[in-house]
Amino acid sequence: MFASAAAHPNIAFIKYWGNRDALLRLPLTGSISMALDGLETRTSVCFDVNFQADSFTLNGEEQQDESLARVSGFLDHVRELAGSAAFARVESENNFPTAAGIASSASAFAALALAASTAAGLSLDEHALSALARRGSGSACRSVPGGFAEWLPGSTDADSYAVQVAPAAHWNLVDLIVILHAGRKSVGSTEGHALAGTSPLNGLRVAGAPDRLTECRQALLGRDFERFARVVEADSHWMHAVMRTSSPPLFYWTTDTETILWHVLTWRKQGHALCATVDAGPNVHVIALESELDWTEAQLRGLPGVEQVLCARPGGGARLL
Ligand code: DP6
Repeated sequence: MFASAAAHPNIAFIKYWGNRDALLRLPLTGSISMALDGLETRTSVCFDVNFQADSFTLNGEEQQDESLARVSGFLDHVRELAGSAAFARVESENNFPTAAGIASSASAFAALALAASTAAGLSLDEHALSALARRGSGSACRSVPGGFAEWLPGSTDADSYAVQVAPAAHWNLVDLIVILHAGRKSVGSTEGHALAGTSPLNGLRVAGAPDRLTECRQALLGRDFERFARVVEADSHWMHAVMRTSSPPLFYWTTDTETILWHVLTWRKQGHALCATVDAGPNVHVIALESELDWTEAQLRGLPGVEQVLCARPGGGARLL
């Protein structure tokens, strides 16, 4: 009744933004990502019929309210699959700073899905495990296979999961995560997804997604950086256009975000293999060929508002410890 698992967060090259079914987390579009090696969540789960309720600690701190409710709601899916009523004790650690604003829900629910399903005696195949992780956080389904992964949107709970497009060793990309001084707390993704449909641009973004997915998949498989860079940036801009034109509007970029995006574009025009993508926060993920790492890191550290630059290479999938 005990198991422990680890998973990496991931950065989306083609984004997930908006659901067709928010309860099941069936997305409006497919998405493609890279697992981030070196950053991870480690989670252990113990089910015990003598526990009176679920409990959850994150980095040693007992969680209550929303955070506990989200984990407990997820454990209900596992209990339903396993036909069990036992409550669980969940202990989780992130090795990256929570304040860094890296979406930790992906690694959190991928690790929790594997640890909890194993502790409950289930032996799920990769598709079923990815679909289960999706119920906790959409992007978590992509952290289950790891490497370069594509979430196939599907149309039911069972067929909406991620598959590996290529293993981590396929392409020596790096993600330079530029952590900026945020100043204020961003609106979380779950809240943001619900607003996508209020933007008049949402239909256009969704209609163009299949072509961007194909473009990104082919560029990845062919290791064509220039083609890859164009579609990754275009897709990020589409998502932020939808966010900015939602009611109420969501503005995640700061002036420092904008400055970095401008520099990355300029450096690429000068011949550097770089591009940038931004999630639901101000931080910029600069995706580069490994050969550009040192030069790019030095440039980024000199830009205004940059607090820290983390560097992650492609990582593997969720694994039992
Ligand atoms: C902008 O997976 O964090 O990072 O399902 O509500 O947990 P929930 O949302 P989440 O959304 C991720 C949004 C994004 C883009 C992406 O990772 O695809």
